[in-house]
Amino acid sequence: MAEQIRLLVVEDVPQVAMHMRSLLQAQAQIKMLDVVTSGEHALPAVSELRPDVLIVDALLQGRVSGMQVAEQVRRGEPTVSVIVLTVPQNPVSEDPTRGIDAVLKMPFSGFDLTTLVRRVHEQSTEGGGRNASTMVTLFSPKGGVGRTTLAYNLAVAFGIDHKVCLVDGSMQFSDLRGLLRAPAAAPSIVNLPTDKIRDADLADVLWKDPSGIEVLLAPPRIEMAEMVTVRDIEKALSIIRQIYDVIVVDTRAALSDDVLAFLDASDLILEVLAYDSMAIRSLAMADEAFAAIGYPASKLAAVLNRSDSTGGFSKADVEEALNRRIDYEIVSDGRLVIAANNEGVPFVLASPDAPISQGIRQMATSIAARISPHPASVSRH
Ligand SMILES: Nc1ncnc2c1ncn2[C@@H]1O[C@H](COP(=O)(O)OP(=O)(O)OP(=O)(O)O)[C@@H](O)[C@H]1O
Ligand SMILES: [Mg+2]
Repeated sequence: MAEQIRLLVVEDVPQVAMHMRSLLQAQAQIKMLDVVTSGEHALPAVSELRPDVLIVDALLQGRVSGMQVAEQVRRGEPTVSVIVLTVPQNPVSEDPTRGIDAVLKMPFSGFDLTTLVRRVHEQSTEGGGRNASTMVTLFSPKGGVGRTTLAYNLAVAFGIDHKVCLVDGSMQFSDLRGLLRAPAAAPSIVNLPTDKIRDADLADVLWKDPSGIEVLLAPPRIEMAEMVTVRDIEKALSIIRQIYDVIVVDTRAALSDDVLAFLDASDLILEVLAYDSMAIRSLAMADEAFAAIGYPASKLAAVLNRSDSTGGFSKADVEEALNRRIDYEIVSDGRLVIAANNEGVPFVLASPDAPISQGIRQMATSIAARISPHPASVSRH
């Protein structure tokens, strides 16, 4: 599943736009969203359609020239990469400060076009400059190990020093809606417009938790989960990553396409387990799948929850069964966790001195140090 690149074209010569469209038809990675035929409409179209890459004709006729479009887009929508299209008689030089990330000269082949679009897109996503957020997903193939409890409290712990968004990745049975007492009417990821998400749309659908963090909730009803596609998840995450320092994701117990969309986009996967032989066995199987997918070991960390409730075997036994080290341990505190969860408050704030809260804060600090200063999303391509 290679990431799709969203392309918008600003071109007033229909033949040129058609030529591009036909060249792109043979491939699936670059999706041509639309062709805007005048410079005045370019910036509004960029804000609305949220392309990754914009191609603009330097010789655009009309009030706003192609070069002005490039500059406007760089100032107004700095995350969009811009390619300027020109003819050999009208040379243009690359100048990212003026919105010219690359120059495409006519005539061009399908190979020239796709290579350049991919190149500018890769340049913009690597290096962390535009993507300096950290995304952590809590994962477990077995249910009931504490993902939701840990995700909420970890997000709140990160929230002490960072701008945090907690994402409810449990699309069918939103656990966070229950935990945070969000009413059924509270908006969710399904309220985001498909393909046209803007920052403002995102602000409208986020649930503001009294603890200070913001939450993108899952749909309120089971059947609505089907309305959320992998593409919707990817798009929502890419926008959230531009706004928040830290994104924490709670997932459902599965290794399905929706969960993989979160895992792919993450910098770190926190694999949550407990002293439960079945949870350990299924996590070992998930690890095999992650290795086959190509996730580097540095993308994974194991969290042993309820680490003082050993149930007959030791931490060393768990590490041997998993063939790796446990990175974090969170102790059990049934009384505190149940009371906090029943009230919908984070125990890391309600009882900051409790060993379980200290464990979560230490984990947050360690994760922040592990991934900063320039986290780059590691994906399986
Ligand atoms: N460290 C802990 N100490 C005591 N109780 C805990 C701890 N962690 C989780 N629990 C309890 O375990 C139960 C399961 O936790 P939680 O719902 O967070 O797990 P989950 O992995 O999200 O489960 P699900 O599969 O339902 O999504 C809850 O009742 C919670 O209160
Ligand atoms: Mg849960």
